[in-house]
Amino acid sequence: MARLMSDRPYVLLSCAMSLDGYIDDASDTLLVLSNDEDWERVDAVRASCDAILVGANTIRRDNPRLLVRSAALRADRVARGLPENPVKVTVTSSGGLSPSANFFALGSGLKLVYTPPALVPSVSDDLGACATVVGAADLPAVLADLSSRGVRRLMVEGGTTMHTQLLTLGLVDELHLVVAPMFVGDSKAPRFVTDGPNATLKLVEVRQLGEVVLLRYQAART
Ligand SMILES: NC(=O)c1ccc[n+]([C@@H]2O[C@H](COP(=O)([O-])OP(=O)(O)OC[C@H]3O[C@@H](n4cnc5c(N)ncnc54)[C@H](OP(=O)(O)O)[C@@H]3O)[C@@H](O)[C@H]2O)c1
Repeated sequence: MARLMSDRPYVLLSCAMSLDGYIDDASDTLLVLSNDEDWERVDAVRASCDAILVGANTIRRDNPRLLVRSAALRADRVARGLPENPVKVTVTSSGGLSPSANFFALGSGLKLVYTPPALVPSVSDDLGACATVVGAADLPAVLADLSSRGVRRLMVEGGTTMHTQLLTLGLVDELHLVVAPMFVGDSKAPRFVTDGPNATLKLVEVRQLGEVVLLRYQAART
């Protein structure tokens, strides 16, 4: 049976990339592709969302905090009856996540980990009380579960695998692509997407933020 539109949240993909389409380099250190002005913008987008999703590999590689930095934006959320920070969400098909990662250790809000149903007991054992582990067979099931928990607006902050799957499945409503003025020039580095996405989006905004450019696109909702 076809899914109804209300089966999933509004999905906003956010990504910073180099001029040659890479979202990191191949080294162990984090490549900075953004600037303070853009971080401020990203913070406001985070604050406008109910949940933020990253793939498990981004947690392992980048160790992101995924919290709203601005005290004013957090206070504004609380005044609107929301938790200080959006719910943190990840997906894993292998487990292999450490409870000491910033994703789990920082912020007092809900952290949801989606994994194939057979893995729920072992992932729950690994993560203990720091996360709620939920069985889900695929990404549409993840989005449907988020919707059932009241998530209406979901921000996805990487990495390649998450962006590729969601775009390929036609599960993206909006894309924020920041282009940094540098080349990475190393095919061992991860790109924004790999094979799969085959869609035309509508450009709705171009904004210069210092040395980087924000390209904002919308997709027709299916
Ligand atoms: N520039 C930017 O804006 C930006 C932002 C974020 C990340 N990044 C970069 O992106 C790179 C990471 O990208 P990535 O593609 O390697 O990893 P990723 O997309 O962060 O995570 C992929 C992992 O997520 C899990 N996963 C994905 N789809 C799943 C599904 N349908 N069901 C269950 N689990 C699923 C799997 O975890 P398991 O392996 O645990 O099974 C998979 O290996 C890093 O280099 C990072 O720096 C860049």
